[in-house]
Amino acid sequence: MRMHSLAAAAATALALTSPAFAQDGGQLNVICSVQAEWCNMIQTVFAKTTGIKVNMSLKGSGEALAQLIAEKANPKTDVWFGGTGDPHLQAAEQGLSMEYKSPSLPQLHAWAQQQAQQSAYKTVGIYSGPLGFGYNTELLAKKKLKAPQTWADLLNPALKGEIQVANPASSGTAYTMVATLVQLMGEEKAFDYMKALHKNISQYTRSGTGPIKAAARGETTVSISFVHDGPGEKMQGFPIETITPSDGTGAEIGSMSIMKGARNLDNAKKFYEWALTGAAQEMGAAAKQFQLPSNKSAKVDPRVPDFKKIKFINYDYAKYGASAERRRLISRWEKEVNSLPR
Ligand code: F6P
Repeated sequence: MRMHSLAAAAATALALTSPAFAQDGGQLNVICSVQAEWCNMIQTVFAKTTGIKVNMSLKGSGEALAQLIAEKANPKTDVWFGGTGDPHLQAAEQGLSMEYKSPSLPQLHAWAQQQAQQSAYKTVGIYSGPLGFGYNTELLAKKKLKAPQTWADLLNPALKGEIQVANPASSGTAYTMVATLVQLMGEEKAFDYMKALHKNISQYTRSGTGPIKAAARGETTVSISFVHDGPGEKMQGFPIETITPSDGTGAEIGSMSIMKGARNLDNAKKFYEWALTGAAQEMGAAAKQFQLPSNKSAKVDPRVPDFKKIKFINYDYAKYGASAERRRLISRWEKEVNSLPR
């Protein structure tokens, strides 16, 4: 009996992982905007669990949106998993994503449900994380500098060429910074601030996680980053710490959307429901990524930033997720900040 059931289990496991079964389960095309290790884990575990083959393409939030706009007439993507919420709201507004009201919504934190309501159920929050600074402790000590505590601290001339942040056109992290500063300081002051900060920036990277990886590896002293991306670098042995500015900061609502015209709609819904479960969301921490999961039942790793200790602005997700506002702020940043000499 026991032998029989073991053999049956083995056969089922084999069937679940074999390419033949995967074909039966069909396919799913996913754009994944979290870091590669998490994307890969999702791809493998979801395929093993359901027999659905996941074709995964990794793209930053802004780049993902640009691709989805480009393929609007002939959609190739079924699900967009992760990335900051603003471009997901923009995708919803532009009719790129599909309305889907998950029965799991009540299991999610209020901020994740609010993301769904604000988009008429065309996107949903899957995680959240605060914006702050990463810094290389060894480089700071060498320069005899203290860790930056406030946004103004980043203007210290001793940090000239020592700060990295991403480009808001390609990166949701960097757009979150622009929108946060505008809300914190008022638009004119925020642009004056970003122009002054520009003198200390060595480069605007394509990807939002580029700067904290550079800081971890000693290629830059300070990064402007989501602080949940710090512990994963530290676990690799790099001398990196993070802090959130004491004068206030914003947070992302990492989101997920099903694309309108998805060719594999049933599989897209299966994936969506699976990705909203607490168990699937715990895979973030297993892949060394420490955003706060949106499902209230997901275990929260102690390395996830403690939201209660952070001074947050009252981020207006609807306003800064609107297409016209995002486009306007990014093009103003291109014209008035990125084009300046250093
Ligand atoms: O994957 C790490 C992460 O910080 C996410 O929390 C966030 O949604 C994403 O990167 C944003 O990436 P980008 O700034 O490249 O759009």
